[in-house]
Amino acid sequence: MKFNGKVSIVTGAASGIGFAIAQALAKEGANIVIADIDEKGGKKAFKTILKIGSDSLFVKTDVSNRVDCKKLIDKTVKSFGRIDILVNNAGLQHVAPITDFQEDKWNLLINVMPTGTFLCTKYALPYMIKQKSGRIINISSVNGLIGMKFKSAYVSAKHGVIGFTKTLALEMAEHNITANAICPTFVRTPLVDKQI
Ligand SMILES: NC(=O)c1ccc[n+]([C@@H]2O[C@H](COP(=O)([O-])OP(=O)(O)OC[C@H]3O[C@@H](n4cnc5c(N)ncnc54)[C@H](O)[C@@H]3O)[C@@H](O)[C@H]2O)c1
Repeated sequence: MKFNGKVSIVTGAASGIGFAIAQALAKEGANIVIADIDEKGGKKAFKTILKIGSDSLFVKTDVSNRVDCKKLIDKTVKSFGRIDILVNNAGLQHVAPITDFQEDKWNLLINVMPTGTFLCTKYALPYMIKQKSGRIINISSVNGLIGMKFKSAYVSAKHGVIGFTKTLALEMAEHNITANAICPTFVRTPLVDKQI
């Protein structure tokens, strides 16, 4: 029970890696706030977390929307009194050559990944600073480190997440708040299934 009583927000926790992270944290005793744009999946994930025995909450959240992000943080603090861990995991993929890349898809990927990560972090930080502790985990990708054909928006977004994480770590060190990015390679989730 490494995270007993710790309050954790996991974005994109209705599916895939985020759902696995939420379950792993719950099994170690953390309270989980599931934040996802997918209401059906989020409520299903919420039930699984409750069965693990962890106190949980589902907050329907579009991380690209600042009002939703603020509401997510406020609801978490109202329900649990604090935020110990924020996992910025929500993400999506779109694959196309640059010449054909739809501009609305470009904007969507940028708005969800680096911007969504920034917004949730920005609103969580005042509480973490007050607590003098916090752990922020940003899910980037191997595509945050290397380029890949036909994934211009995703590669740009994930490089952005790493740049943001480095800056966040420097700004927050004095407050005992750490920031780390994780860069997974392929994991068989709906995000990858759609590409296959
Ligand atoms: N699967 C892989 O191979 C892989 C590799 C490297 C990095 N990643 C990253 O891991 C993270 C999770 O991906 P996954 O593979 O589990 O995908 P997934 O599609 O299974 O899950 C992504 C979740 O994010 C949610 N989401 C999408 N847009 C959202 C928004 N605007 N607001 C809130 N939630 C939103 C979806 O509803 C979904 O529940 C992503 O950031 C992805 O880029 C995945």
